[in-house]
Amino acid sequence: MNRRARGRRGTDAGGRSPGIDTLAVHASDRPDRTAGAVVAPIFQTSTFRYPAAYSEAGKAGLHHYTRLANPTLAQAAGAIARLEGGQEGRVFASGMGALSAAILGRLRAGDEVVALEDLYGNTVTLLSRELPRWGIHVRWVPGEESAEVERFVGERTRLLVLESPTNPTLRVHDIERWARAARSVGARLLVDNTFATPVNQRPLTLGAGMVMHSATKYLGGHSDILAGALVSPDGSLSELDAFSATLGATLDPLAAFLLVRGLKTLPLRVRRQNENARALVKEFSGHPKVREILYPGLHSREEELLARRQMTGRGGMVSIVLRGGLPAARRFLSGLKVVTVASSLGGVESLVSLPLLSSHRQMSRAERLRRGIDDGLARLSVGIEDASDLIADLRSALRGV
Ligand SMILES: Cc1ncc(COP(=O)(O)O)c(C=O)c1O
Repeated sequence: MNRRARGRRGTDAGGRSPGIDTLAVHASDRPDRTAGAVVAPIFQTSTFRYPAAYSEAGKAGLHHYTRLANPTLAQAAGAIARLEGGQEGRVFASGMGALSAAILGRLRAGDEVVALEDLYGNTVTLLSRELPRWGIHVRWVPGEESAEVERFVGERTRLLVLESPTNPTLRVHDIERWARAARSVGARLLVDNTFATPVNQRPLTLGAGMVMHSATKYLGGHSDILAGALVSPDGSLSELDAFSATLGATLDPLAAFLLVRGLKTLPLRVRRQNENARALVKEFSGHPKVREILYPGLHSREEELLARRQMTGRGGMVSIVLRGGLPAARRFLSGLKVVTVASSLGGVESLVSLPLLSSHRQMSRAERLRRGIDDGLARLSVGIEDASDLIADLRSALRGV
């Protein structure tokens, strides 16, 4: 699908919008004028030759240096933007690089950020430990008060930060409501869409002003790169470019190439992960060794209705709370053979981790329990293996608990 066939707004010649599978395969297409390669070559270069003696220096579209711009990075960013239904995208060396650029590139001393308490651990660290050093104040919204987010915003609020579903409790929060609260004070809502992916949830269609990804996870999809991305529904990311170039969290072109390759199978992988996760929830709900299963929409009827409204699939993350706390969780992990014990998520292989000993180890027990993170919680990132093999693996590991 070349640019002309697609039209300006991503529609084809007949005015239809392509489906997400077609977009995933073709959104990164680039014509190769040297050899007609179907897969665009990597621009694995740190610098670019200037036209004779700088005669065209400053000309728009001319590349200088990869920290500032590189065609392979632009290819990955453009594809992610189209998958999210945004106007423009940028890629970064990691999810944290993307988030740092989004926050530090736009805010200044005296500004305020309103953020959900249950964000990814390093996001919490950036907001709670680093931002105060820059004179930026953060107001935290406890999960149970998320439906009253309007109460937390004020005239100094410039940015709201939300994740849904959350890590590792997989609670669902109302993106439209948070977007409305942001607009009411002229602020922007940033949604970390790492867990859901654009296959299951498109925050920009719900009013978000920016989407962020740890592309290390589902977008890359093979646990072999670190990458991050930002997407906006308007032209506002260009405001961050000068800061991003100074920050230097630039994605390597080879990682961008692998990211582009991963994106082509994103909908296939995610749909399979959705199905496998659902199969595990069905199989292990009510198991005598399992106290509770955490999964988007399972918490309450209200949350189920919200998940139906804002998600088209529930994702591949499932948390299993074992009776017997940490000792039981450790025994469960040591009995698994197909599922690998490792942090991170979103790859083709199933992984399991214990938040108590990994992502949330810095938090006090009281804080963890307040957020619904039991000592026996094992977080599963469900891969694309046969559901029957995953079920057999978990069943056998549970027998040893
Ligand atoms: C939800 C979420 N956001 C952001 C990040 C940070 O991404 P990265 O590790 O690519 O910097 C992670 C990493 O685990 C994550 O799970």
